[in-house]
Amino acid sequence: GKSGYDHYMLKEIYEQPRAMRECLRGRPRPFEESVSIEELDDVPRPTEVHFVACGTSYHASLYAARLFRERGVRATAFLASEYNVDTLPIDMGTLVVGVTQSGETADTLRALRTANSVGATTLAVTNVVGSSASRETDHTMYIRAGPEIGVAATKTFASQQVALAMLSSALTGDCSREFVESLRALPDQIQSILDDSRAEEIAEEYVHSDAYFFIGRDYGAPVALEGALKMKEISYKHAEGFAAGELKHGPLALVTEKTPMFALVSGRSNTERMLGNIKEVEARGAPVVAVTDDPDLVGHHADHVLSVPETHWRFFPILANVQLQLVSYWVANRLGRSIDKPRNLAKSVTVE
Ligand code: F6R
Repeated sequence: GKSGYDHYMLKEIYEQPRAMRECLRGRPRPFEESVSIEELDDVPRPTEVHFVACGTSYHASLYAARLFRERGVRATAFLASEYNVDTLPIDMGTLVVGVTQSGETADTLRALRTANSVGATTLAVTNVVGSSASRETDHTMYIRAGPEIGVAATKTFASQQVALAMLSSALTGDCSREFVESLRALPDQIQSILDDSRAEEIAEEYVHSDAYFFIGRDYGAPVALEGALKMKEISYKHAEGFAAGELKHGPLALVTEKTPMFALVSGRSNTERMLGNIKEVEARGAPVVAVTDDPDLVGHHADHVLSVPETHWRFFPILANVQLQLVSYWVANRLGRSIDKPRNLAKSVTVE
């Protein structure tokens, strides 16, 4: 049941600390300063990684591809529905990773079958034991988030991000004490966000907006996309996410005093450039909500702050996303939407 929550989605948002602890269990090795994923012990270091996924899982894949690239491995995230082996170089060193919570998404399964057919090594990163994705690939890594009932992916996205961060470390051998310690701190940090988020009052203030925009840079850009997807899916309101640098190449034309801008601003990377983007938006009269790990620095540039604890700079978006989930939930709740079963959507999409 919903254990006292009004919706499965809210319950699952609050389950994230526990889900993440399960995902982490036994994998980060603080004494060795390494990450080990037992079921992948015999997977060699790939020369290249292709991620194939849809929707929220695609956003996790964008995040993951960047982590691999930073560790010197060529990596690309593909929308599974667009993955076409005719146009892609796959050699024997390429690892094709299907990121799929359900393990049953038709487009992702098709992409994995394509990869299998040309002899690539395939890996499923999934939540469901025995799912089609796990049966049809060479290797499987479980995210161990527990069952997710709400159609909107929440705890599974958080666990995918953490699982893929660990994967990038385990397969490349690139790790540090800070990386391991920061991973292990994430569940408690998410708990502290859940314990005193101001998301509900901010949602209340902006519930009658024309549209909602989300911006971030580098590791924050995929989470800006995810923030918008969640908002449109459950509130049925217009929402878009952008890499912040794209604002002035078009989207800025949509910005008005009725379009709040949610900006992911870490005090530890790209801070000045993000503050510059905030100024561009404010000059057009739009309200700005900064999601930040540095409220003292960022706070006076924004109308509101949703703060998150400090972490390894690569993990800032994992924490920031929790605030965005809550904002979407409370906007949709206030509008009386069918949050756990939004119109026209299904939990797993088994047709192409
Ligand atoms: C959004 C959402 C969908 C799924 C997508 C892929 O909240 O849930 O975008 O992420 O349908 O599903 P999986 O991960 O099961 O392949």
